[in-house]
Amino acid sequence: MSLSQEEIEILDYIKLMLPSGLSGYPADYLSWVKMEYKKKGKPHTNVTMKNIENCLAILKDEKVIEPSKNDPRELCPNSSILQKSWNKDSYEIFGAFEFSPIQYVRSRLESFLKVNNVVEDDLVDVSIATIEAIENAAKYGDGNSVFVSCQIIGKKLELQIINKIKDVDLETELLKKYTSATTLMKGVMVMQKLFNHVDLQILEETQQAKLYAEKILT
Ligand SMILES: Nc1ncnc2c1ncn2[C@@H]1O[C@H](COP(=O)(O)OP(=O)(O)OP(=O)(O)O)[C@@H](O)[C@H]1O
Ligand SMILES: [Mg+2]
Repeated sequence: MSLSQEEIEILDYIKLMLPSGLSGYPADYLSWVKMEYKKKGKPHTNVTMKNIENCLAILKDEKVIEPSKNDPRELCPNSSILQKSWNKDSYEIFGAFEFSPIQYVRSRLESFLKVNNVVEDDLVDVSIATIEAIENAAKYGDGNSVFVSCQIIGKKLELQIINKIKDVDLETELLKKYTSATTLMKGVMVMQKLFNHVDLQILEETQQAKLYAEKILT
């Protein structure tokens, strides 16, 4: 299959993402390619699903990515191409849901934990708790930059997530919280249960939310 000039560029973007262990549906890859374009200040509206599918087909042929065993629609990088000696992972993403930030953080984190031989029970705990954290950053953040950092020092895992808080009308927010089932205030409780230490700071002066959490690994 021959790729267009633009698809050759898209293929390069995807190849750069894969060593970080990003896995997802083709639609997730489309969101992440758009995110890379936005990071570089380039227009991203003309990247199509067809472009992404053409690139993913090539990567599948090259055996760089493969369908996940649990869900064949999900594509995963082959473990041989993941980063080596990877004890710290920090990056910035955009929190807006159109860029698929939750699947981005979830898949990247799970790959990071696997490379570091974290046992399955810890991996599941850290993953569930981190999904709650990044969901909050996407829901209550301003949609722009979210800073994520995860590192393992000895048996301790440290997670930090920083986002800008979006402007909200307090009254509407309170009504939403206490009158609908869409928000149950369970996120922070889940984090407290699954991490050994959780600190969420809401900084009024800089309009930032800073989460710091620790997990002692088995
Ligand atoms: N990253 C964040 N940025 C801004 N505000 C946050 C952030 N994380 C939490 N909050 C605030 O803390 C509150 C509690 O978060 P929590 O995750 O427990 O509940 P929720 O997100 O409202 O509901 P649920 O998680 O059950 O869907 C949120 O409603 C929000 O006001
Ligand atoms: Mg929440």
